[in-house]
Amino acid sequence: MAEFPDDIFTEPEDVDPHGLNNLGPLRRLAGTWEGLRGVDVNPKAEGPETRDYLERIVMEPIDPQANGPQLLYGLRYHVHINTPEEQITFHDQVGYWLWEPATGLVMQTLAIPRGQIALARGQAEPDADRLVVSATRGDTAYGICSTDFLEHAFRTDSYRLEITFNPDGSWSYVSDTMLAVKGQQGLFQHRDRNTLRKIAEPQPNPLALLEG
Ligand code: HEM
Repeated sequence: MAEFPDDIFTEPEDVDPHGLNNLGPLRRLAGTWEGLRGVDVNPKAEGPETRDYLERIVMEPIDPQANGPQLLYGLRYHVHINTPEEQITFHDQVGYWLWEPATGLVMQTLAIPRGQIALARGQAEPDADRLVVSATRGDTAYGICSTDFLEHAFRTDSYRLEITFNPDGSWSYVSDTMLAVKGQQGLFQHRDRNTLRKIAEPQPNPLALLEG
C-alpha cells in the first residue's frame, strides 16, 4: 500500500499547465497513430480464431488533474479497429493514460463496449523504453468489472499490456486478456499485438492553449 499524506484535501500549487511537457514515459504515446499489421487471437465456439486487423489510435493530452495532493498528467485515448476484409468495428476502446510524476505511477483506464471496464497500473521511469500495466479481477483498486453475462460466459480474470518504444519512433504492444470461457478447460489467452506509427502530432491540452 502506498504512503499518503495526512492532508487529503490540499491540492498542489504552481502546477505547470502544459500537459505535453509533463507526461513522463507517456510523452511518446501522444499523437495519432496507425497500425496496419495487428494480430488478434479471440475465443470462438469452434476454438481460437486468429485475425489480422487495422488500428487507429488518437491520444491527446488532458489538463493536469489533482486528487487532493495527488497530481496526474495524462492522455485521453480512443482505439478503433477494423479488419482488412470488413469496415465494421472489430474492437473499440476509450480511456485515459495517466502519469503521476511524484511517484512514477502509470495507469491506464479502459472501457470497451461489451460492458467492460478496467483500471490497470504499472510503475515506470520518465525515460522508460518499456511500459507494463496490469489489472486483476477482484482487486478493488486495479480491477476489472464486466457485465453479468461476461462474468457468466467469458469471465475476465486478468489484463496485462506491455508497450515497447522502438528507436524509429513507432511503438509496439502485446496485450493479454485471460478469459475463463464457460465449458472450456483452463484459461483462454486472448492476445492482441500491433506496431503503431505516428500519422499526426498531438494538440496541446485546453489549459496550455489558454495560457499560450
Ligand atoms: C486489440 C484489441 C482487441 C481486439 C482486436 C479484440 C477482439 C475481439 C474479438 C474479435 C472477440 C470475439 C468476439 C465475438 O465473437 O463476439 C473478442 C472477445 C472478447 N474480448 Fe477482445 N479484443 C481486444 C482486446 C480486448 C481487451 C483489452 C479486453 C478486456 C480487457 C477484451 C475482452 C474480450 C472479452 C471478454 C471477449 C469475449 C466476449 C465474447 O466473445 O462475447 N478484448 N475480442
